[in-house]
Amino acid sequence: MSHLPPRRIRKGISPLWFDFADTGEDQLQFLVELCGLQPSHRVLDIGCGVGRLALPLSGYLNDKGAYEGFDVLDHMVDWCKQNIGSRHPNFQFRTAAVASTTGSTFPEQTAADYRFPYEDNSFDLAYAGSLFTHLTPAGTENYLAEVLRTLRPGGVLVATFNLYNAESHQRFPGRRLEEIWPHDHGAYRLKEEDSPESSVAYDEIYLRKAYEKVGLTILEPFRPDASYSAIRAPKHGNGAPHLWYTTCVIAVPA
Ligand SMILES: C[S@@+](CC[C@H](N)C(=O)[O-])C[C@H]1O[C@@H](n2cnc3c(N)ncnc32)[C@H](O)[C@@H]1O
Repeated sequence: MSHLPPRRIRKGISPLWFDFADTGEDQLQFLVELCGLQPSHRVLDIGCGVGRLALPLSGYLNDKGAYEGFDVLDHMVDWCKQNIGSRHPNFQFRTAAVASTTGSTFPEQTAADYRFPYEDNSFDLAYAGSLFTHLTPAGTENYLAEVLRTLRPGGVLVATFNLYNAESHQRFPGRRLEEIWPHDHGAYRLKEEDSPESSVAYDEIYLRKAYEKVGLTILEPFRPDASYSAIRAPKHGNGAPHLWYTTCVIAVPA
């Protein structure tokens, strides 16, 4: 694997106590074992960050395979271009000019309007690791529709979400949903009302309908064990793991 991004850039993606290299390797292993990812596949990485998946994937895809990643943060995309794209010509990274309260400086377009810069039926697998945890429903529904458009028939989408349902309080007794995401919007909850995309959690019923509406079929069951934040988080604070609610959802075109 190529060298890791500097700590100052990684800090913007997830706490440094999430092991960046191990979580990336885990995600790749899940894609291979759960989703049948093959070295010759074409992969789309939505909200690619600073290459958590791209780094291990660069040692897995062969020259028939290809990777496209995009993100709204220029400095992350630049690091990926310089350190991964320069060594692997089949790995392309782009900045998406989309406004986001996570720090993007592009005011002109929102996630609800953004058209992915790829042809229809381009990819075997689309991956969104902790991307939908930063999109509100209009952006989520547009991105799901764009995934459907750009996936080939038989392709697969792997995405992680903060999800809750009526049982969440019993399943996660240590810390209340209302404390983590206090602002209730019915279908979703926000951590910060004045910075909606800083952290978003979805009601399971809404999310299932959103997938159905765009034409994606969820492959059961949800896989909380396949979400990098849930499995790699060390014991935190009161002894309970951080980000309990993060769940991996696997889906295919209906
Ligand atoms: C928690 S980070 C995860 C990054 C990467 N997938 C990983 O697992 O390390 C979320 C990423 O989504 C990006 N992002 C936020 N809104 C976005 C949008 N509308 N389109 C594309 N990327 C977005 C952020 O800039 C950030 O890099």
